[in-house]
Amino acid sequence: MMVMDRSNRATAPTAPAPGAQAEATAEATAGVYGPLKISAQGVDVFYGDKQALKQVDLDIHENQVTALIGPSGCGKSTFLRCLNRMNDVIESARVRGTILLDGQNIYDRDLDVVTLRARVGMVFQKPNPFPKSIYDNVAYGPRIHGIGSGKAELDEIVATSLERAGLLKEVKDRLHEPGTGLSGGQQQRLCIARAIAVNPDVILMDEPCSALDPIATARVEELIDELRENYTIVIVTHSMQQAARVSQRTAFFHLGELVEVGDTEQIFTSPRDERTQGYITGRFG
Ligand SMILES: Nc1ncnc2c1ncn2[C@@H]1O[C@H](COP(=O)(O)OP(=O)(O)O)[C@@H](O)[C@H]1O
Ligand SMILES: [Mg+2]
Repeated sequence: MMVMDRSNRATAPTAPAPGAQAEATAEATAGVYGPLKISAQGVDVFYGDKQALKQVDLDIHENQVTALIGPSGCGKSTFLRCLNRMNDVIESARVRGTILLDGQNIYDRDLDVVTLRARVGMVFQKPNPFPKSIYDNVAYGPRIHGIGSGKAELDEIVATSLERAGLLKEVKDRLHEPGTGLSGGQQQRLCIARAIAVNPDVILMDEPCSALDPIATARVEELIDELRENYTIVIVTHSMQQAARVSQRTAFFHLGELVEVGDTEQIFTSPRDERTQGYITGRFG
């Protein structure tokens, strides 16, 4: 099921306008995967002179979990950061190519990056709650973005976000205690609640479980599966088991290239590229 991302373009007789190309891709894949949310086209990233990503084309579909896998240093985090322009904050980083979010290029000069990062939220490897109360952690984004006027509305947003992150029950009696006092797994779910609170479309997760114990990991994995109903999720993981458990679609990166993308089951049972085969059978990485 990986035909579309690449072959679509490869067989186009002449280079279509970027918009037309995106439409064609959306059309070709919509029936199989549901609506297209993000379309990355010809993405190159450089850190100084060093190229970290080479001509990456990847489509990401709504209400699905897309896993990015591959050996350390292959560019997974770099690609993830392209999707909400977090590479902008890295001095030496330069991004080339097109990334469409709902058809709009997020690298357009007139695009508001703050709004973009609310639409495309991020959860990091190490849980990083602010040194504030649980309540204020979740209310932080809505306050900045002016979402929710008045206390009642903000209370509601905080409760709903914690509920969606599967944390409300555990913390409802201590909302005004520090977020940093929670366990690691709870802190990570708090960070997910914080991302949800600004009502994003997409949630990016960079190895969100790698600092967690197996029980907390299982809880976050369950949560990811629930969240997919309302959000589009892109997760970087170094655990192939995790990719297999949580994602519907998997993209394999190697040395800055996107080698192969397809249904998760296909990638893990019948990869088409021998590099993918090598990685999933543990020959490298
Ligand atoms: N801030 C940075 N400055 C310079 N080089 C970087 C930076 N971040 C990543 N790189 C380099 O880019 C390549 C891809 O890194 P990364 O995206 O972190 O890979 P992964 O997440 O797959 O481990 C690596 O060679 C890494 O050393
Ligand atoms: Mg990484």
